[in-house]
Amino acid sequence: MAYGRIPREFIDELLVRADVVDVINARVPLKKKGREYTACCPFHNEKTPSFTVSPNKQFYHCFGCGVHGSAISFLMEYEHLDFVEAIESLAESMGITVPREAGGKGPSDEQRQRSKDLFTLLQDASEFYQLQMKGSDKAVNYLKGRDLSGKISKRFGIGYSPAGWDNLYKPFLNNYPEQQLVDSGLVIKNDEDPNNVKIYDRYRDRIMFPIRNRKGQTIGFGGRVLGDDVPKYINSPETSVFHKGSELYGFYEARMHTKKLERIIVVEGYMDVIALAQFGVSYAVATLGTATTQDHIKQLFRAVPEVIFCFDGDRAGREAAWRALENALPMMQDGKEIRFMFLPDGEDPDTQIRKIGQQAFEALYGEASSLTAYFSENLHDKFNITSDEGKSRFIQEASKLLQQMPDTLIKDQLVSRLAKQTNIEERVLRKRLSKLQSTPRGSSERNYESEHPFEPSQPISRLSNREVRQTPIRYAISLLLSNPELVQFVENIEQIVLSELPGSDLLTTLIETIQESPKINGAALLERWRNTEFEAPLIHLMKWQPESDDESVLRCEFEDCLRHIRKRANEIKVEKLLHKERTGGLIDQEKQELLFLLQQKDD
Ligand code: UTP
Ligand code: MN
Repeated sequence: MAYGRIPREFIDELLVRADVVDVINARVPLKKKGREYTACCPFHNEKTPSFTVSPNKQFYHCFGCGVHGSAISFLMEYEHLDFVEAIESLAESMGITVPREAGGKGPSDEQRQRSKDLFTLLQDASEFYQLQMKGSDKAVNYLKGRDLSGKISKRFGIGYSPAGWDNLYKPFLNNYPEQQLVDSGLVIKNDEDPNNVKIYDRYRDRIMFPIRNRKGQTIGFGGRVLGDDVPKYINSPETSVFHKGSELYGFYEARMHTKKLERIIVVEGYMDVIALAQFGVSYAVATLGTATTQDHIKQLFRAVPEVIFCFDGDRAGREAAWRALENALPMMQDGKEIRFMFLPDGEDPDTQIRKIGQQAFEALYGEASSLTAYFSENLHDKFNITSDEGKSRFIQEASKLLQQMPDTLIKDQLVSRLAKQTNIEERVLRKRLSKLQSTPRGSSERNYESEHPFEPSQPISRLSNREVRQTPIRYAISLLLSNPELVQFVENIEQIVLSELPGSDLLTTLIETIQESPKINGAALLERWRNTEFEAPLIHLMKWQPESDDESVLRCEFEDCLRHIRKRANEIKVEKLLHKERTGGLIDQEKQELLFLLQQKDD
């Protein structure tokens, strides 16, 4: 199998040849309605269809929950695939092989070979530890003492690393080079003193929990002491195949064990995941001694619509929950739900489920706080809103957090809740929030010039409100996304570039992209901007429906947009020249230009 980068052109071509209607229809039967197809949305519960598929744009969109995207996105969402897997699946269904680029940005052959060897090594180690478990009464008794069944220990591949410095190192050196053993994290090399280099097993006399990636490959380990020594757990260091911030312990086992995952519960520890599984809650995962990251949440939301965070009721647990919430805010989507539950003091999921059993444990979800409730309660506890100053700080803090949230129904509900809580009229609060949020944030954001007098300054990259004014540039982008062939009517791209209007960069890049690949469609265009700041605005504009699909009408509308842009570009230029005339005077060439522009203005 090859792992190089998939060529851009191949993805374009694939999306041009694949039909999103076929792809979806094979999984969710569609009904034709006008120029589009509809069905009840497969991503949320509904009785009347609000899921629509446009063959023209090769794009689907649900008016109920907001999901949307290309054939590739659909496969990612529906079949829980990652980007590359979705492309592979789509290509396979069409009988096409996915080509891979040699070299490029992807891993080199050598790197690939190295990771492959690392996976083999880690798998060997996992089997080695499991074998050692069988031979050690001490370790078996530890598991028994914790009431772990043999079946569950096997499902999670629990093993034992014997006491001693080279139990793994020595035999493994027969099959693997020393450097690789070090790279895997299993062996530590201390060469601080060149005359006395020490090499030894990282894990000694510990219960071993293999950590697997989504393909089931072992990528690292957690090792627990059998007694009360510290540290209680040692985790693999970051290696080329193990990245704590993007792995979830138990995710693979949960997927394997439950055909259709409907929810996932996120807990803190290895033993929590395993005990829950033993008692029937086979959909628990744990972060690996780190906070919940955005990457974790992204993966969870890709797999299920509902995520429950379960933390200890102590301070550390509350802090972990708040961190999770902060990282969840930018990832929130309508149709996805996050809840927080806290266990009684002194309990963790392992002890709790053993006490009360599966049913009572699952009943606790009903009492868990919603994201909006937890958000407002937590802030309420932090600030004293009986004073005006406290209220103002409360709003400041809330605004900072809300700013990171995409525009969703959940966000609306959150604002309503905050309004009630602070006793500020909702309308007033919304106005205040939008004021606070329109002050410039970090420098990574592009700042487009105001398109005044058409509208206030709003960078196109933040274009995600449901109510976005149609400006000529936005409408032109939207028309091109649904009808790329309109590009032939662009006469002078320089004028758009020079207009410096908000979004003119995006519009020109879009035009150039279509000119380079004339057969490209909307879905393939969208893929070009996946994971960039322009993805959200493009999706938003893709949802706009032109008034008609008559070619000549579309052409008229598009040319009308271009005319407006040109006109506005001229006006801006005239304003600039007039200003200069008043302040510093114009050179001859500028005077002529001004004259020329003023004449044009009257057309
Ligand atoms: P806990 O201390 O709550 O342990 O750590 P636990 O999960 O209840 O473990 P048992 O029941 O005593 O066996 C929770 C998680 O934090 C990480 C581990 O991932 C652990 O499962 N942790 C904890 C570490 O990485 N290192 C440590 O020293 C302790
Ligand atoms: Mn525990």
